Formats: sequence, C-alpha cells, structure tokens
Amino acid sequence: MKLLVNGKPVEAPAGSMVSAAVALAGAWLYRRSVTGEPRGPLCGMGICFECRVTIGGKPHQRSCQIPCAEGMEVRTDE
Ligand code: FES
Repeated sequence: MKLLVNGKPVEAPAGSMVSAAVALAGAWLYRRSVTGEPRGPLCGMGICFECRVTIGGKPHQRSCQIPCAEGMEVRTDE
C-alpha cells in the first residue's frame, strides 16, 4: 500500500506498521526530545513512546502500534 512519509511516497507491505514505513522512507529521526535530541523506535511494542510521529495531522502517535493505511500521511520531526 502507498503512503506519504514527509511528503515522500512509500510502498509498504500490507500489514506493516507505520514505524516500518518511516524506515522504508529512509528517515532515521522520528521525533525530537524536549531537549532536541533525535529519537526513534526502541521497544517496538508501545511502551517507550520514542517512535511518535504525526499521522494525518494528529501528533504524538506511536508509529509502532498503528498499521499503515492507503493514502496515510505521516510526518516526523526534523
Ligand atoms: S517503539 Fe516504543 S512505543 Fe513505539
């Protein structure tokens, strides 16, 4: 299925999580901490909240817990 990550088209396998699509897009920075440090997925099971991204304009979504959907728009921090 196709989605956009930071405006870049990505083809993600059916059933994959948004965190995988972000990685497929080549993004290594998912969010920044309050002190500006880069963060990315750590636990992969919804506990650490380090993988948060903006999905469809809704911020702070745990990308490892949300399946990809056709046409989804994902943004990471920069
Ligand atoms: S990687 Fe830990 S909550 Fe998503």
